[in-house]
Amino acid sequence: MDETNKLRRGFWNGKYADRHTPWDLGRESEPVRRLAASHFPSAGCVLIPGCGRGYEAVYLAERGYPVTAVDFADEAVRFLRELAGEKGVTLEILQEDLFSLDAARNGTFDVLLEQTCFCAIDPSLYRDYEQMAHRLLAPGGRLLGVFMEVKDIEGPPYDCPLDLVRGQFPEDRWRFDWSEPLPRNPERPGPEYLAAFTKRGD
Ligand SMILES: C[S@@+](CC[C@H](N)C(=O)[O-])C[C@H]1O[C@@H](n2cnc3c(N)ncnc32)[C@H](O)[C@@H]1O
Repeated sequence: MDETNKLRRGFWNGKYADRHTPWDLGRESEPVRRLAASHFPSAGCVLIPGCGRGYEAVYLAERGYPVTAVDFADEAVRFLRELAGEKGVTLEILQEDLFSLDAARNGTFDVLLEQTCFCAIDPSLYRDYEQMAHRLLAPGGRLLGVFMEVKDIEGPPYDCPLDLVRGQFPEDRWRFDWSEPLPRNPERPGPEYLAAFTKRGD
């Protein structure tokens, strides 16, 4: 891990250590429950980058999806391992940098579930995120996301309006499927919306 990345990891470790985790609902989110019910394939491998404490990862694993949950923060991963143990569910939990996942995993995921990770990364990394998502998803794989808009905070979270997000997923590599505004959840730091993309074939 290079120095910049160590700093970034330290930043997120600090948030958990200080218990300053305003995005954390303490349970899986309603939008993810809806995505799973209406837009997930009936089977398929799910990747959750920047999973945090990972309630959604456990929720999906409980419903039979093979889930790989990734976060580089110590406390997030410790909590998720404990939660998965308590619930008796099996899932893969990786404490790694989401941009450096092993190339052996390329093309192995059917769904990338994004929730408040894109808005947590530095905008200079948006291209890396798109490349990570593209290489890890199978052709036809779906990026299903809960994205956040935060107009007056200097990030993270960074403001991620739909136009900005769509602009990161070029049309020759992705099909934009749909988006939908979500009712404001006062428990989360900003308004959110759903957006769905499909990876075009290689
Ligand atoms: C705002 S939190 C969202 C957590 C979770 N997705 C949720 O909605 O509750 C962002 C998470 O992304 C993780 N993260 C940020 N950059 C990362 C990176 N490069 N590799 C792995 N995890 C990262 C942080 O540690 C943090 O847990």
